[in-house]
Amino acid sequence: MKQQKITIDVWVANSTNELANDDANLLNAACQAAQHAYAPYSNFNVGAALLLANGEIIKGSNQENTAYPSGLCAERVAMFYANSQYPDVPIKAIAVSSFINGQQNDQPVYPCGACRQSLMQSEIRHNQPIRVIMGGNKSIQIVESVKDLLPLTFNLNDYK
Ligand code: THU
Repeated sequence: MKQQKITIDVWVANSTNELANDDANLLNAACQAAQHAYAPYSNFNVGAALLLANGEIIKGSNQENTAYPSGLCAERVAMFYANSQYPDVPIKAIAVSSFINGQQNDQPVYPCGACRQSLMQSEIRHNQPIRVIMGGNKSIQIVESVKDLLPLTFNLNDYK
């Protein structure tokens, strides 16, 4: 038996000034989207913004519910809306940002496991990588594909 390493490339920046214009704009849109979060239970407001291949930007925010599991993360709110409105248009990138009490968190916000799986589905469906921009006030991390966030992905097609 031998050990195999799986490595990922993560781009790290300290501020939006270091980002390409498209990435900075998308992160800015994610920050705006967080203002529409409904998060009375966690007080953790998350915004997501998607850049579609047709140039459109779609925003979403987390929507919580008194029956906790009925709520949904910002990433999936934005992605399901985009896929339902533009089923044939690939997603080029997603930016995510989080706030507590109106203040952006210093550290990047990382998509949860369910969001990674859902984003992966879109990547597989359109056979195009989705750039993921995880924003924080003091640190921004970027990966070029959801695959990087979900190595050893389950994909039914691999078994057929
Ligand atoms: N949340 C998101 O919307 N996206 C993430 O990437 C992390 C977590 C939401 C879910 C819940 O409404 C709140 O943040 C606290 O977990």
